[in-house]
Amino acid sequence: MKRLAGKTALITGAARGIGRAFAEAYIKEGARVAIADINLDGAREAANALGDAAVAIQLDVTDQASIDRAIVEAVQALGQIDILINNAAIFTAAPITEITRADYDRAFGINVAGPLFTLQAVARHMIDAGIKGKIINMASQAGRRGEPLVAVYCATKAAVISLTQSAGLNLIEHGINVNAIAPGVVDGDHWDGVDAFFAKYEGKAPGQKKAEVGKSVPFGRMGRPDDLTGMAIFLATDEAKYIVAQCYNVDGGQWMS
Ligand SMILES: NC(=O)c1ccc[n+]([C@@H]2O[C@H](COP(=O)([O-])OP(=O)(O)OC[C@H]3O[C@@H](n4cnc5c(N)ncnc54)[C@H](O)[C@@H]3O)[C@@H](O)[C@H]2O)c1
Repeated sequence: MKRLAGKTALITGAARGIGRAFAEAYIKEGARVAIADINLDGAREAANALGDAAVAIQLDVTDQASIDRAIVEAVQALGQIDILINNAAIFTAAPITEITRADYDRAFGINVAGPLFTLQAVARHMIDAGIKGKIINMASQAGRRGEPLVAVYCATKAAVISLTQSAGLNLIEHGINVNAIAPGVVDGDHWDGVDAFFAKYEGKAPGQKKAEVGKSVPFGRMGRPDDLTGMAIFLATDEAKYIVAQCYNVDGGQWMS
């Protein structure tokens, strides 16, 4: 039996990386998925590759009109939204003395206001339609503690964990479960950017930071997007209905809480 048979999901930032892996895994489990991304060409490519159960949708999570439109489009295409994965985010890093307001505003706009107002709009849809939905926010081990060169990104992910707690406590009265996943270090385009940053600020050779973090993971290697799909599927099923406002580390043993 497919675990998400008949379910529909909206996944933000699913044109590539972890979001795309979630879309593929959900479809394999019987769901139909709206791949919503600011990069519409990328979303279309992903949807074409994933077949009839996927639809591409334009979404900029920093723009309320775009969020509202994306939800209307997703509901038109899928009938309703049973599951939201708030996955879209950007990485940013700088020494404290070099952080700019523009970068801070951009990161908080995408990584914090983005998931909050997408969650709000989807929760309203779920409540109106009487859907006992599942909402999964993508946090990070970066939200569990600070890092010397990554203050703003770490703070955005700590905010995601906090919002997951508040939204989870608020929405459970409607039967909507809100939880989060905190990955550790996951290989892909995102981490190529992280590696380039550390090459610049720590004088490392390209690829060196990646190799170092991979070795430091207790499991023995960096994560891959498909290491996270099991948790994303489980949290979207009714087996997880008694799980409220939690954030799960899926990080090869890097963080314990
Ligand atoms: N890769 C890692 O090591 C890692 C670790 C911990 C947490 N995470 C989190 O997991 C999630 C996915 O990470 P990833 O590595 O796949 O990232 P990624 O950079 O590969 O993908 C992010 C996607 O979000 C989209 N996006 C960016 N801005 C957007 C906007 N304004 N509106 C809509 N879409 C937008 C991008 O176009 C892209 O497709 C993120 O929340 C990230 O913070 C990643």
